[in-house]
Amino acid sequence: MNSASSVERADTAESSSVPVSAPQPQLARMPRVLAVANQKGGVGKTTTAINLGTALAAIGQEVLIIDLDPQGNASTGLGIDRRSRRYSTYDVLIGEASLLDAIIPTAVPQLRLAPSTLDLSGLELEIGQARDRAFRLRAALAPLNAGEPGRPQFTYVLVDCPPSLNLLTINAMAAANAILVPLQCEFFALEGLSQLLKTVESVRQQLNPDLAIHGIVLTMYDARNNLSGQVVADVREFMGSKVYETVIPRNVRVSEAPSYGKPVLVYDLKCSGSEAYLRLATEVIQREKEFCV
Ligand SMILES: Nc1ncnc2c1ncn2[C@@H]1O[C@H](COP(=O)(O)OP(=O)(O)OP(=O)(O)O)[C@@H](O)[C@H]1O
Ligand SMILES: [Mg+2]
Repeated sequence: MNSASSVERADTAESSSVPVSAPQPQLARMPRVLAVANQKGGVGKTTTAINLGTALAAIGQEVLIIDLDPQGNASTGLGIDRRSRRYSTYDVLIGEASLLDAIIPTAVPQLRLAPSTLDLSGLELEIGQARDRAFRLRAALAPLNAGEPGRPQFTYVLVDCPPSLNLLTINAMAAANAILVPLQCEFFALEGLSQLLKTVESVRQQLNPDLAIHGIVLTMYDARNNLSGQVVADVREFMGSKVYETVIPRNVRVSEAPSYGKPVLVYDLKCSGSEAYLRLATEVIQREKEFCV
């Protein structure tokens, strides 16, 4: 399903039951929710969710990664085998488990995961007609209120979205404070960005008026390739200060790490990819201060 129909249909149903701009009185005590999204495949969404999440945890944040992609790459890349995925984001979104049931620890202190399974690919068929279909994730996040004793007090939730503007991505955008967009340094980098921005605008108008664009992170930058430099210049010209200063280099250690079930920061802390994700985490926190004033 494309973005427009997901948003439209959600809006139609919503007008009868779910308030679009429901007040969020506990927002100050809730974690910040960032949707890592781009409908283009293979641009570094999952790599960014895992490694930005790890870097944020390494500098003292309490982080939850929500795997909202049926491919389950964030879950596998964090070394969570399928048998350990007792409850998945599918169970949460169809209402058969709470998010708290699905959250499991990872090998990284202060980094937890709500894993996904292939079942998630059938979600749209199951809840596509439900009135609250676009708000399932937002509702699931409500119990993460940091004020309640005995519950993990997350400061950041990163949602790893699938490569599509489908109902899963719409759920992420409807639940998020902001989206973070990885863009690969390649010839067609900007292709599709305007469609993504249009979807963000529709979600703002119909589902989540506060949705911000946190930033665009350029990934897989190759200093030996003139094209990479040109793409960085073009994207900065087009998107201005929305583009983070930090650029993630193409680094073989980054691509090797998931096959060991480890974030690159655990696999090789000193490599250029790890250093870049640590810089990105610092920049994200810095930008958060600007968002939250
Ligand atoms: N900085 C990097 N250096 C080298 N390889 C990278 C880097 N970032 C990502 N990759 C590799 O590129 C591929 C795609 O990355 P990733 O899975 O993060 O993209 P994605 O946007 O989540 O993909 P999908 O759209 O399928 O979910 C993976 O094999 C990953 O290991
Ligand atoms: Mg992915």
